[in-house]
Amino acid sequence: MNLIVAVTKNYAIGKDNNLLFHLPADLKFFKEKTIGNVVVMGKKTYLSLPKRPLPNRTNIVLSTDTSFNPTEAIVVRNLQELFAVLKQFDSEKIYVCGGASIYNLLMDYCKKAFVTVIDEIVPADTYIKDVEQSGFVLESESESFQENGHTFRFKTYINQNPKNF
Ligand SMILES: NC(=O)c1ccc[n+]([C@@H]2O[C@H](COP(=O)([O-])OP(=O)(O)OC[C@H]3O[C@@H](n4cnc5c(N)ncnc54)[C@H](OP(=O)(O)O)[C@@H]3O)[C@@H](O)[C@H]2O)c1
Repeated sequence: MNLIVAVTKNYAIGKDNNLLFHLPADLKFFKEKTIGNVVVMGKKTYLSLPKRPLPNRTNIVLSTDTSFNPTEAIVVRNLQELFAVLKQFDSEKIYVCGGASIYNLLMDYCKKAFVTVIDEIVPADTYIKDVEQSGFVLESESESFQENGHTFRFKTYINQNPKNF
């Protein structure tokens, strides 16, 4: 299982239930990684998507809300149910894609993390755990890119000791 996220230097990922930046190159990277695969997200992230579900991907959404039943996504009510559903997929094709509650819940089970790091600190209300403090080691890092006045890099991390599910 993989994790894919865009973070600032201090691991902020969102504000007011939105992303912090509009970076077309990062959206393209996200699409290339996840297309044809399985995306796992929390209800807030799912509802924040401009287009639901994410097309050409199996969308799996975590929610305890029994009145939340979108027909176009697989909804699971807890971690146990999620893992039961995920067993039918190749774990390399599964991408955890937010938000903070789901990244923090599933980070320890992810073997790889694709982290876009924006070289800034900006006002935010949603943060994730520091992957480097959570057992992940940097495998590779891209050159730096600039878009809409923001500087960012694509980093790939490997979890030294991922948990099984
Ligand atoms: N920068 C990035 O790469 C990135 C990516 C994705 C999202 N984001 C940002 O992250 C923010 C949203 O993150 P968030 O943490 O507030 O929300 P979230 O993780 O998207 O969704 C939270 C919801 O997921 C459900 N949930 C969480 N844990 C669960 C569990 N163990 N079992 C069942 N359901 C569970 C709950 O829904 P119920 O209340 O229905 O139970 C909970 O309210 C937004 O600002 C978004 O833009 C950033």
